[in-house]
Amino acid sequence: MPAVTVENPLTLPRIRVIDPQAARDRPVLSVTTAPSALEGEGFPVRRAFAGVSLAALDPFVHMDQMGEVEYAPGEPKGTPWHPHRGFETVTYMIDGIFEHHDSNGGGGVITNGDTQWMTAGRGILHIERPPEHLVVSGGLFHGFQLWVNLPRRLKFAPPRYQDIRAGAVSLLTSPDGGALIRVIAGEVDGHRGPGITHTPITLLHVTLAPGALLRLPWQPHFNALVYALGGFGSVGTDRRPLRYGQLAVLGRGDVVTVEAARNQESRSPNFDVLVLGGEPIREPVAMYGPFVMNTKAEILQAFEDYQKGVLGSVPAEYAVPHGGVRGEASAREMKAADTAKREPPTAS
Ligand code: CO
Repeated sequence: MPAVTVENPLTLPRIRVIDPQAARDRPVLSVTTAPSALEGEGFPVRRAFAGVSLAALDPFVHMDQMGEVEYAPGEPKGTPWHPHRGFETVTYMIDGIFEHHDSNGGGGVITNGDTQWMTAGRGILHIERPPEHLVVSGGLFHGFQLWVNLPRRLKFAPPRYQDIRAGAVSLLTSPDGGALIRVIAGEVDGHRGPGITHTPITLLHVTLAPGALLRLPWQPHFNALVYALGGFGSVGTDRRPLRYGQLAVLGRGDVVTVEAARNQESRSPNFDVLVLGGEPIREPVAMYGPFVMNTKAEILQAFEDYQKGVLGSVPAEYAVPHGGVRGEASAREMKAADTAKREPPTAS
């Protein structure tokens, strides 16, 4: 798991030691195991939030761990052109390369530790896929995509695109140097990450060495989620076990505690977690396929607007003669994708 790493974490700024008397550790409310599914043209994902109530996730609505998968030559897959409205997508690549293009002229290549942040707002069309040379060669592919909701007043904000290079991410460590903390967005203990969000959030990718303990100061008014990307450990006041592919929802408090197990498997020698939280929006959520709105009527409107071309059009270089667009998703495909996003979780 490369993302961004450092030789000696002790050279990094350290977060403060938290006085256990003065801080309230967040308890674990639930642990769920993400079911596996296929996304887009068939790349394997884990639906990280499946089976968790939207109220517990608020302001987030959806997250996929993409991979980790080792592709054979000719095998790497992406998504066709498809629309979004009403929220923001955050795509973070740990291993491998993903190319992105949108109808707004945004786009780029994201790789090892890069983040791509797209505000769909009132509407955008985009395509995400591995570059041609990677399709030919095959290779390792691992990352995640998170959907951050927008409040009603920002659902129709102009689309925006942010390319966050791995080098721009703020790196911190725990007081004993046992954890590498990458601040992708928001802030932790006064250290700010590069992502600019309409909805206030904090998003961290943390790598804990075997046996390392991390106590993170956390905004009391934010929710708190810990998703294990790789390895084994525990979380919360009562040290609930958490392993790769599992999500913990934490309750109220001002500290998030994560601890790595002493023994890890060789395929994932550290405990790698995403720690994320944000200010709840507390509005009704109507979510269908690629759209996240407040009401069902707004969802129907979004489908209609998409068909009318209001959400944007596929750039000319991707269009094929005699109308139609290469690789464009049909409404039926989008509905199928939505069904897949609502699979029940595996109890644990
Ligand atoms: Co998309």
